[in-house]
Amino acid sequence: MQVNSKDIDFYNLGFGFIETNKMFISDYKNGNWDEGNLVPLGLIQLSPAASILNYGQGIFEGLKALRAKNGTITLFRPEENAKRFNRSAERLFMPRIDSKKFVDSIKKVVKANEEYIPPYESGGSLYIRPLMIGSGPILGIAPADEYKFIIFSSPVGPYFPEGFKAIDLEISTKYTRSSVGGTGFSKSCSNYAGTMMPAKEAKSRGFSQVLYLDSIHREYVNEVGAANFCAVMDNTLVTPELDGTILEGITLKSVLKLSEKKLNMRTEERKLSYKELFTDACTECFCTGTAAVITPIGSVQIEHSLKVFNKKLPGEITTKLYQLLTGIQRLEIKDDFNWIHEIS
Ligand code: PLP
Ligand code: COI
Repeated sequence: MQVNSKDIDFYNLGFGFIETNKMFISDYKNGNWDEGNLVPLGLIQLSPAASILNYGQGIFEGLKALRAKNGTITLFRPEENAKRFNRSAERLFMPRIDSKKFVDSIKKVVKANEEYIPPYESGGSLYIRPLMIGSGPILGIAPADEYKFIIFSSPVGPYFPEGFKAIDLEISTKYTRSSVGGTGFSKSCSNYAGTMMPAKEAKSRGFSQVLYLDSIHREYVNEVGAANFCAVMDNTLVTPELDGTILEGITLKSVLKLSEKKLNMRTEERKLSYKELFTDACTECFCTGTAAVITPIGSVQIEHSLKVFNKKLPGEITTKLYQLLTGIQRLEIKDDFNWIHEIS
């Protein structure tokens, strides 16, 4: 049920779905997208034979609209979400969406739901979720011939309830999230279903999330269920190379740029053995994502080996990067890279 924006406690939001006013829907039929339009947020009808329901033919994106101090509404690099959406669409054998249509439709959804953008002081945001599903009926395994492109939004607070506090991760020796040649680099719905049980098990043991390793050697760091992984080693920012098994994070890409250009750090995208995290050279770790922003990692544990970073306090570089990134996103630090879209 739609919630009146006046009844929302924007200062105590978690990362959960709250219904807003409007959503955008565009339909693909006979090889073409219709123009699409804003409609009241509500249920959609699907055939039980829809390809999304049977074979998981679906992809999504995630980005945030923020309210800056002066009231301006900002988006962060939405054209990068458009590019990634189309990379995902290609891998899942789905039709492309014109990037301009993707970004313009997001802006329409934000404007239509403006009253749900949390105030600047709350630190919250309007999370925007573009998605595409195969809606056409299909029985044999083949792409649908009809699709729906939908954008909805929800006001959110921090993804990890800890906020900008360090989280504890369990390195899984049992589960992996993707494999070479698979769909790990894409934001396909099916990549996430398989991470729910591992996350629940890790949480029951007191961890915030799982840190996955590669599926062949069970040694190299892959990523966290919904965020990329970075380690600081000897003043170098190290992140696992994007080998097709890792989602190419827009926050990660931005953090690499900020480390090089603003903190004069070296960056390395390479295979990163989990064993390196347990050496003295590794002084800070954090994860990055739209929902996770930059979340410090207080400890990693694999079986009985535990490594605690910086007494579980956010490290110096992690903190600097967090301040730079969120400062740019909230128009408090000059946007030297043309990352911000202002919505008027
Ligand atoms: N990895 C996974 C599996 C994700 O779901 C996300 C979130 O989008 C990320 C990484 C971080 O990507 P981004 O920074 O583009 O949000
Ligand atoms: C995001 O950070 O936008 C994500 O998609 C992560 C998660 C909520 C799936």
